[in-house]
Formats: sequence, structure tokens, C-alpha cells
Amino acid sequence: MNLDTASNQELLARSRGAVWHPCTQMKHHESLPLVPIRSGDGIWLHDFDGNRYLDAISSWWVNLFGHANPRINSAVVDQLGKLEHVLLAGFTHEPVVLLSERLSALSGLSHCFFGSDGASATEIALKMSFHYWRNESRPEKTGFVSLANGYHGETLGALSVTDVPLFRDTYAPLLRHTARVESPDWRRAGPAESAEAVARRAAQSLEVHLERHHAQTAALILEPLVQAAGGMAMYHPDYLQAARTLCDRYGVHLIADEIAVGFGRTGTFLACEQAGIKPDFLCLSKGLSGGYLPLSVTLTTDRVYAAFYHDDTARGFLHSHSYTGNALACRAALAVLDIFESDGVIAANRRKAAEMNFRCRRLAAHPRVSHFRNTGMIWAFEVAGADGDFQRRFYQAALCRGLLLRPLGNTVYFMPPYIIEPEHMDLLVDGTLAVLDELPLD
Ligand SMILES: Cc1ncc(COP(=O)(O)O)c(C=O)c1O
Repeated sequence: MNLDTASNQELLARSRGAVWHPCTQMKHHESLPLVPIRSGDGIWLHDFDGNRYLDAISSWWVNLFGHANPRINSAVVDQLGKLEHVLLAGFTHEPVVLLSERLSALSGLSHCFFGSDGASATEIALKMSFHYWRNESRPEKTGFVSLANGYHGETLGALSVTDVPLFRDTYAPLLRHTARVESPDWRRAGPAESAEAVARRAAQSLEVHLERHHAQTAALILEPLVQAAGGMAMYHPDYLQAARTLCDRYGVHLIADEIAVGFGRTGTFLACEQAGIKPDFLCLSKGLSGGYLPLSVTLTTDRVYAAFYHDDTARGFLHSHSYTGNALACRAALAVLDIFESDGVIAANRRKAAEMNFRCRRLAAHPRVSHFRNTGMIWAFEVAGADGDFQRRFYQAALCRGLLLRPLGNTVYFMPPYIIEPEHMDLLVDGTLAVLDELPLD
């Protein structure tokens, strides 16, 4: 097939025939057409019929600096001419070394273990924490505790610490039992209760759990500041401080899953910075390669690393993925870090977020909208009168207006690439308002 002459119709029929699409009931595509994409540039995705779509969710939260970004393109092309990949067991290469050094400097965590997707980064953190305690002669510390409404990926270990019923329930018999504690989500506030007070209340539930079970608990895993896939639940940084204090007090690791929220999403490079804390394990992916190539990393401390450093092979971390530390992906990630440094992205995003919030006042005031909220470059709200089919109907109506938006249940959210400009913000807010007005109430 010549890709230059393909049509929308041809590609979508062939895709339905041969590709099993993720997170999808494929039968829905009998009535909901796939969207064949021919090219991307900046915030836009283009199909074969001349339509364009504003990528308001950064292609599942990965794309930071736009599609076909010239600087990332040229770094990857340069790397292609040198080394595309080499196994990382027994070998090393310049991009992985440079990237590890820079990520360590940014996070204060000295050792980087690379994986491919987000779920592999959380698996690595869970296995490393468990193995650390075993190496430290504490083999009884095998338990994990996670937050209600948390999401850490879809592989069995990651799903065990995930609390999104739609993804989890079917596979429950395959999953390891893990404990859940209250979410600090500020929407749980009672009348006149502040976000800080909700954070304190949730921290008390964590304290009760750790007091009883710390001897059997290896780690607490959480998404700092925003529980993303669970519906963009936002919470106060005080909770992270309390979690750090409690983990220290009870000898339990803290795993910060910043796969969705790292790389500037919450307004600081890492979300943990807003609480002034450092986790024992930090998981990064998504924005790490700017949305170019699958890459994830789990960072940890000297102390954890030292517990594995030994003459005995079995005390080492014998975990691997074929594409661990892929050179092309690392080079894309280095280009992403260069852009952060040279363009003052964090400060620029603060200005952009303010401009977006100004425009979103109309959305927040819409009669069907509740709990309008913003953290950094994430905006979300709930829509009243949404039925079980709301997600798909909203998605389709938004597409017709040239917007790529995928609500989570009745939660509509924006997570745009950081290259968003005021004219895109207008299209996004105006288009969303129009969709809200045209979708029938339940
Ligand atoms: C917080 C968090 N952790 C883990 C994952 C899993 O990442 P991946 O889909 O790359 O496996 C995601 C994906 O959305 C996520 O948001």
C-alpha cells in the first residue's frame, strides 16, 4: 500500500481488520469510526481527507512539544546515523549515560533503571522495593499500599496497585491483594472543609494502616498531586509531605509514580517538588521522550542501590526488557530536556496556564459543569446529566469540531502540549462549550 495515496476509508477498514486497538471494545467501531492520521505538526493531527484535530490530550499525555517537533526530530535523526540500539546488559552508550546523569541531577535520585512503558516502570519499582527488603533480611515486607482511585498501569503487578474498576475488576482473580487507603482528592471535602483538611484526613487513614501493617509493608505507591486516569482527582501537596513523614517513621518505601504528572505537567518539573519531598523510587515515562518513543525509567537512591551491590548474583536486580535504555529514545529524551532548559518551559507554562484559566471562566460557570479544577497544565471538570454513553458521545462531538478529547467517565479534561498558544486555547474552550451545549441531557 502506498501511504501517500491511502484514503481515510481504506485505512480504517484495514485497521479494523488487522489491528486490535488498545483500551477499546472493538465492536464499538461498527458505529464509531477510527480516525486515520496521516501526519502531525505542532498541536495538530491531520487525516487523509484534509481534516485536522487539535490534540488537547497530548496523545495520551505523552506529547510535550508538539508533533514533528524539529528539534526532537533532528536529535533522533542524528542518533539514527550513529546507533539505533544496543543491549544495555554488559554494554552502554552515550545517550543513556547523559540522560541518567541529567535525570539524577533533576530528581536528586542517583540511579536510573530503564524500562519501556509506564507500567514497566511501576513493576520495576514494586519489584525493587520488595527485593530491597529481602536483601536487607526483611523478607516479611512483601505488601504494598496504594491510594483509592489510583492508577499505575495495566500489567498484573501495576494493576494490583490500581483502583480503577473498569480496568481492574475483570482481572481481579489474577491480581495480588494490596491494601488501599483513602484518596486525598479535594472533591471529597465536606461543607467548609479545605483541600488541606482533606489531605490531613487521608493522611490519618494512611497512618492507621501503616501503624498496623508496617512490618509487612514494602512500599506505598501514589501519583503525586493528580490521580490522572482515575478522573484527574487533584489534591493538596500537604498529603505528600505527610506520606513522606509516615513512610520514614514506619520504615516503608515511598514510590512516586510521576508517569503522568512528571515533566512539568503539574507546574513544576516534578510534582514532588511542590511538597519539598524526595521519594525512594520515582517512575517516569510519557513526557520523558516527548511522545516520540516508548521509554520509562525508575530512579532510586544510593541506599537502595547499595543493598543490591554484592558478589552474589541473586542479590542483584535481575530484571530486563529488550529495549531497556534504547539509544534513539534516550536521545529524544535528551532533546526534551534541552528544550526545558533553553526555553524556560516551566515559567512559560505558568503564563500559559493563567491565560487558559482566564478563558476557562466561561466553562467553569457553565450550568452543567462542576468541580472545575486546574493544576499546572491539567484542567478538568465533571459534567452533570452524563449517561453511560457520555464518554463516547462527547468524544465524537468534539472530533466533529476538530478537537481530540477523551473524557474519563463524566470527567472532561484538557492536557495539551506545552506549545499551546492563545488561538488554540480559544478553539479548545469555545469548542468544548459548544459540545456541552449540543449534547442532550440524560
Ligand atoms: C500514573 C500512571 N502510571 C502508569 C501508567 C502506565 O503507563 P503506560 O500506559 O505507558 O504503561 C499511566 C498511564 O496512563 C499513568 O497515568
